Amino acid sequence: MCGIIGYSGRRPAVPIILDGLRRLEYRGYDSAGVVVCGAERLLGEKERGRLDNLVRLLALRPLAATTGVGHTRWATHGPPSKENSHPHYSQDETFAVVHNGIIENFHDLRRGLERRGVRFRSQTDTEVIVHLIAQGYEGDLLEAFRRALEQLRGAYAVLLVSSRHPDEILAARHGSPLIVGVGEGENFLASDVPAILPYTRRAIYLKENRVARVTPAGVEVYDLAATARGRGARTSDGDGAGDGAARAARLERSSTTRVVTIDLDIKAAEKEGFDHFMVKEIHEQPRAIEETMRGRVRGGEVVFDDFPLSPARLRKFNRVSIIACGTAWHAGLVAKFAIEEFARMSVDAVISSEFRYANLVLGRRDLVIAVSQSGETADTLAGVREARRLGATVVTICNVVGSSIPRESNAVLYTHAGPEVAVASTKAYTTQMALLLLFALRLARARGAAPRDRVAAVLEQMRALPGMVRETIGNDRTIRQIAAKYHKVYNYLFVGRRYNYPTAFEGALKLKEISYIHAEGYQAGELKHGPIALVDGSFPTVAICVRSPVYEKMLSNIQEIKARGGLVLAVASKSDRRVSRLVDWLVRVPDTDECLSPILAVIPLQLLAYHVSVRRGLDPDRPRNLAKSVTVE
Ligand code: AGP
Repeated sequence: MCGIIGYSGRRPAVPIILDGLRRLEYRGYDSAGVVVCGAERLLGEKERGRLDNLVRLLALRPLAATTGVGHTRWATHGPPSKENSHPHYSQDETFAVVHNGIIENFHDLRRGLERRGVRFRSQTDTEVIVHLIAQGYEGDLLEAFRRALEQLRGAYAVLLVSSRHPDEILAARHGSPLIVGVGEGENFLASDVPAILPYTRRAIYLKENRVARVTPAGVEVYDLAATARGRGARTSDGDGAGDGAARAARLERSSTTRVVTIDLDIKAAEKEGFDHFMVKEIHEQPRAIEETMRGRVRGGEVVFDDFPLSPARLRKFNRVSIIACGTAWHAGLVAKFAIEEFARMSVDAVISSEFRYANLVLGRRDLVIAVSQSGETADTLAGVREARRLGATVVTICNVVGSSIPRESNAVLYTHAGPEVAVASTKAYTTQMALLLLFALRLARARGAAPRDRVAAVLEQMRALPGMVRETIGNDRTIRQIAAKYHKVYNYLFVGRRYNYPTAFEGALKLKEISYIHAEGYQAGELKHGPIALVDGSFPTVAICVRSPVYEKMLSNIQEIKARGGLVLAVASKSDRRVSRLVDWLVRVPDTDECLSPILAVIPLQLLAYHVSVRRGLDPDRPRNLAKSVTVE
């Protein structure tokens, strides 16, 4: 999730662009860059690291122009570096683009461009866009832009400037947000509202498959999809990605463009109108899961581009150890079930602070999977180093490209959740589980441990995950009522079995860390071995009781709790007709394969923790005593 900004008007562009980028820093900040249309040629600077590094560079080398674009990067392809920073230029440096999104077919496009003699400067997916434009340019910038866009598959919000057309910016969106700010004699483009609010409250929220041409004089919006349909070109999934070879008509002006007035203040706009980053990130989970899966499921198989461990290499391992902390460890516990079920391998999921000091028996046949949102957790980093010292192979699941743990691993798979600002992890967790499940299925196929149709069936359900997560978030009103009733209790118990006992652990952790209520997560089968002594009517037990091979056992556990006067809040499957008769409160999640159920079952628990915290007058985004990344022991 990057931040992009554009300005075309009568004022110096650079100060406005930098101000806009600063307001978009919450969208990611491992590097930043600016390019403007100088009198004779494009002028630009880009720098790795925080935005201040770019500001210092521009103070030394000011760029004078009134049209330009800027970018603050949250890396997905290619580690943070000057070369991988945006903008990216054509070979003759007469075109430049900045981009937010993921181009799924960039490998094929890059190979085709390289065959035509194009020399790439970066490892990014974005760079293919500017070379396609340059290749298709015959004097009409808008037509060259359209031809390039038609060849892209994936998500993009892209801004284009050219020294050949010095007072205009072309913009397009598909799958990533883009807003046009409408001013007086000046116009703006941005990923998000905060960047334009200081200058104008009049905006056009560009719709899917729209192209905008922005100059100081005005804004023209075109409909890319209509043009593709008009030409009869193949548009897969209606995403305008028609047959690039088909010659195009000219773009059609869009007739549905509306200028609206924005009434948010800047702080609210950064949270997109939500009260806190945590609840915003809970609501971002459908998109985060969609982005994490994007390009990784093709033809009923899991495909990891640029992944160095071949199927033959994956077959050599005889054991898996998963190391992580906190919420990431809970994702590891879920992955243990998935890898054991599908890949038929023995798996340990170990808390990093224990792993790093254990009497480890590891060697070349061992696969260690490190799970970390930040990629900087000290205990997990130490565990990775120890595992590699003993000869094991380390694969990391991480949300921050180029962070320490991926850099010290043999291989890395990135979640594409975008920056997670709230201390309490939500979208990182569900995307970790989704990516770990994909990895389990990849392992299974490489080892011939799971039939193709079984894997394809799970992948088919995973395609529906964003929608099912969105539906589950729809329980918010019931969960607010539960929080209103049970935010003053002194205890919570969370119980689950198999894939969902980690969900119980995660629900307890979420509640503890942002509401400060004592909560315990337990394997439900353990109740009779002690915890049930706690049960009375003074506090609720949250029971995850979705469809599973141990569903009946969960029903019995619920009855045990009720028999002792306990309160039960249950998470059950949508089709369930039995749990509702037993419990005090019920939240339903869509029916899925058990291996996917933890991704859905945790959503109500995230929302419960959030609403209880708010009810207790606390700040869920900044819980006491906690840091977003624990970079020390
Ligand atoms: C989760 O809500 C917590 N903030 C914490 O447990 C976190 O998951 C843990 O510190 C691991 O962090 P990491 O994923 O960045 O390694």
